Amino acid sequence: MSLIRIDRLLSDMGLGSRSQAKEWIKKGQVQVDGCVCRKTEQKVDAGIQEIKLNGRIVCYEEYVYYILHKPAGCVTAIKDKKNKTVMDYMPKECRKDLTPVGRLDKDTEGLLLFTNDGKLAHQLLSPKSHVDKTYFAKVKGKVTSEDVEAFMEGLDIGDDKRTLPARLMVRKSGQVSEVEVIVCEGRFHQIKRMFQAVGKEVIYLKRISFGKLVLDNTLKVGQYRKVKKEDILDDCK
Ligand code: URA
Repeated sequence: MSLIRIDRLLSDMGLGSRSQAKEWIKKGQVQVDGCVCRKTEQKVDAGIQEIKLNGRIVCYEEYVYYILHKPAGCVTAIKDKKNKTVMDYMPKECRKDLTPVGRLDKDTEGLLLFTNDGKLAHQLLSPKSHVDKTYFAKVKGKVTSEDVEAFMEGLDIGDDKRTLPARLMVRKSGQVSEVEVIVCEGRFHQIKRMFQAVGKEVIYLKRISFGKLVLDNTLKVGQYRKVKKEDILDDCK
């Protein structure tokens, strides 16, 4: 772990603003290795030093990873003037640099990953990485074996390039069909536009997996959970 200013560490951990952290330090509420710290600019190594705020140990982690079971009706953004955002569902005292990895539409539910590990986020989102994402969808009308083939061949959804092959699995075919789709890209409105390309409309969409992460029944809509880096991708660097 590298050295970091004590006031920055406290605010990065989401314990309070930088100015609040400075106040705590000036008032003697912060200890480093058992000694009261009065210098806001003091550098600490949280990997080996014990930091306490008001007598309670502050556990510093450089990188954190969370999954949220995103509800419909909130936007994937840090702030929004009109809408609830996914951040409203995350812990109050979460790190300030925590951001969602990719986005789900306002009306899409399901698994959304958050991290402050920019390198991993980039790896997950890079078009070269081909990270699998599985979606469950309800689609108006009968989804057919021709649709399955069309998804596998790649579709013209109005972008420069056709989509890469995607696996479409029909769970129920009827007036409203139920399907699962595995894609290894992350284009804007990709699933909805893929169904549009075969003349169909998605009426419900939920992401059920992302890389190695799978949404299980224990994580209810609107709940989050911490995960480990190694649970996300096999070849995390
Ligand atoms: N595809 C979509 O159409 N919407 C999402 O939110 C995610 C994938």
